[in-house]
Amino acid sequence: MGHSLGCVLLTGSTGYIASHTWLALEAAGRQVVGVDSLVNSSAVVLDRLVSLSGGQPKHFIKGDVRDAQVLDACFDLAAKQGRPITAVIHFAALKAVGESVEKPLEYFDNNIGGLISVCRAMERHGARTLVFSSSATVYGQPERLPITEDAALRATNPYGQTKLIGEELLRELERSDPRWRIGWLRYFNPVGAHPSGQIGEDPRGIPNNLMPYVAQVAVGKRTHLNVFGQDYDTPDGTGVRDYIHVCDLAEGHVAALRYLDEQQRSLTVNLGTGQGYSVVDVAQAYERASGKAIPLVYAPRRAGDVAACYADPTLAETLMGWKARRGLDDMCADSWRWQSLNPQGFEG
Ligand code: NAD
Ligand code: WQD
Repeated sequence: MGHSLGCVLLTGSTGYIASHTWLALEAAGRQVVGVDSLVNSSAVVLDRLVSLSGGQPKHFIKGDVRDAQVLDACFDLAAKQGRPITAVIHFAALKAVGESVEKPLEYFDNNIGGLISVCRAMERHGARTLVFSSSATVYGQPERLPITEDAALRATNPYGQTKLIGEELLRELERSDPRWRIGWLRYFNPVGAHPSGQIGEDPRGIPNNLMPYVAQVAVGKRTHLNVFGQDYDTPDGTGVRDYIHVCDLAEGHVAALRYLDEQQRSLTVNLGTGQGYSVVDVAQAYERASGKAIPLVYAPRRAGDVAACYADPTLAETLMGWKARRGLDDMCADSWRWQSLNPQGFEG
């Protein structure tokens, strides 16, 4: 309290999670500059964000975070407005597990190269508060459930490796210079959309993830859901995950930045609900939310999947006073509103 907060740079700013976080930051009174190469998002997001915030203009630079000049331009833009960037939330990354197995060099280059470039730019401009988009993927096959932050870390694919290496790189950076304040946020399974239905997840091609796939079945773009595995050691035999509403996740970033600023110390927390739901639970909840049938076809297990993965989210509540408020029915209702209003996504 009392000190004026600087501007926040969002990398990957037109992506799924960042776009929701942009609104949450503005709602909390923070100024934002966004940067994105648009490799996996649409510039239409910016128009939607402007209208969702009552016409407030958006400061955005199109470019790749591996390009130092692009990042310098972001810092200069904010400084020119009299509100220098004091914190960065680094969302920009490639995130498709299967693609990472096919193209490991691209994933390491983008995700590790991008992170190094962002940290170097921050040092050039004297900003040392960073929030990093990590993932429950760093827990690999969990030994105990629910998962606490002190669990063993291991990667099971190149994408996961980039998150694990990214986490470790930042631990070394913090050790080297204690002026760094770093938030390691491990997201569980982000789903849902802004309640307006104006922004949401818009995957390119066939969705890899469960809820966007279910959404496309509900809207009639796909005939049925392939359920990957029915013999897991879970109540109904299908995989169990901790789905978290993207707006709760967005608010978690606001809480993390507040913690880093006020407590002047770093933070490693799970962002999940603590509640596990099966594939069948999700399909049934989506049927209720949409009024559409989701036909299920049982298929073999997907390589690399674990039976169950859900967070112990208590540390985030203890440290930052944040917890997820929205339930599975909200996640499905908001996903459905986005999907039915935008059947072709942002470019439709
Ligand atoms: P997303 O693909 O919607 O957003 C990422 C954005 O980064 C995209 O807009 C993309 O165009 C941009 N980008 C990628 N590489 C870039 C680069 N080199 N320079 C500039 N922009 C670049 O994905 P998301 O789901 O919003 O994920 C955001 C972050 O959260 C990622 O780091 C992801 O690994 C992490 N994460 C996501 C999930 C999930 O299930 N969605 C779970 C855990 C962690
Ligand atoms: C959920 C459940 C599938 C699709 C992935 C990444 C992880 C993180 C979040 C970034 C599983 C089942 C899915 C389908 C299905 N991302 N499923 N049919 O695998 O928990 O996590 O996204 O960090 O790193 O691995 O999420 O949504 O792909 O799958 O039966 O068509 O749905 O087997 O049980 P996952 P998901």
